[in-house]
Amino acid sequence: MVLMARKLHVVLGGNTIVRNVDFSIEEGQLIGILGPSGSGKTTLLRALSGFRPAQKGRVVFKGRDLYENFEDLKQSIGYVPQDDVVPRSLKVERALGYTAELRLREFSPEERKGRIDGVIRALGLSQSRKQRISKLSGGQRKRVSVGMELISRPELIFADEPTSGLDPALERSLTETLKKLADQGRAVVVTTHIMSSLDVLDAICVLDEGQLCYFGPVDRIKPFFEVDDIIDIYSQLQNKPVDHWQRKYERSGLRGQYL
Ligand SMILES: Nc1ncnc2c1ncn2[C@@H]1O[C@H](COP(=O)(O)OP(=O)(O)O)[C@@H](O)[C@H]1O
Ligand SMILES: [Mg+2]
Repeated sequence: MVLMARKLHVVLGGNTIVRNVDFSIEEGQLIGILGPSGSGKTTLLRALSGFRPAQKGRVVFKGRDLYENFEDLKQSIGYVPQDDVVPRSLKVERALGYTAELRLREFSPEERKGRIDGVIRALGLSQSRKQRISKLSGGQRKRVSVGMELISRPELIFADEPTSGLDPALERSLTETLKKLADQGRAVVVTTHIMSSLDVLDAICVLDEGQLCYFGPVDRIKPFFEVDDIIDIYSQLQNKPVDHWQRKYERSGLRGQYL
């Protein structure tokens, strides 16, 4: 297990935003956190990555307590926020170059260039490497955002809604790229509310009102929520209280296999 979280609890502004959430991911996996807007996906992602620790609960990364060893472990974790922080006036190559200078201080210029070339290849950005970021499509810009995090070769990558705003074809292609990054021996966690590329994911975690309703394989999610179309999960979450899904999940036997 690369990352294991138990009983995460986050309170913000006096409200419980994440309640008792467990999470696990192994090397090679791409896991999606799915849930309606406001269900706590971003808050959970921050807690799992250690960038904004949960008040209660534990996160273990590579066998060590993430919160207690964050300064040491954060080198191995990449976090791509929902809002791009890429410098738009720069060319792709230059933006990655600055990131490499910041994060790989001990590297020679040749070594940094090798790293940048590798990232550009991995993300399919070769055609755009000399382009200004402001001129890129949303999907390409998101790839640059992911690329900036890949420069330091993290073993664990979090991306908050990386495919939001993309059309279905671009969404699919970025999701497949993220799966490839996982296949190369990383663990990748994404939040999403887009539904068309779920089959690429190794597992899905469904959150509602900050609570875990489902964590398991993609092909069991439709029968679990008793829907024919995945989009109807959201109405099912509204139709029945969170407790209903939690009890159903506990009875399903999936916890023992996936968490
Ligand atoms: N700093 C904060 N203080 C109080 N409430 C917050 C804060 N940040 C987020 N929230 C609330 O927490 C809930 C979950 O937010 P968020 O994690 O952003 O959900 P999602 O990413 O699923 O849309 C929302 O109701 C939001 O208003
Ligand atoms: Mg969010």
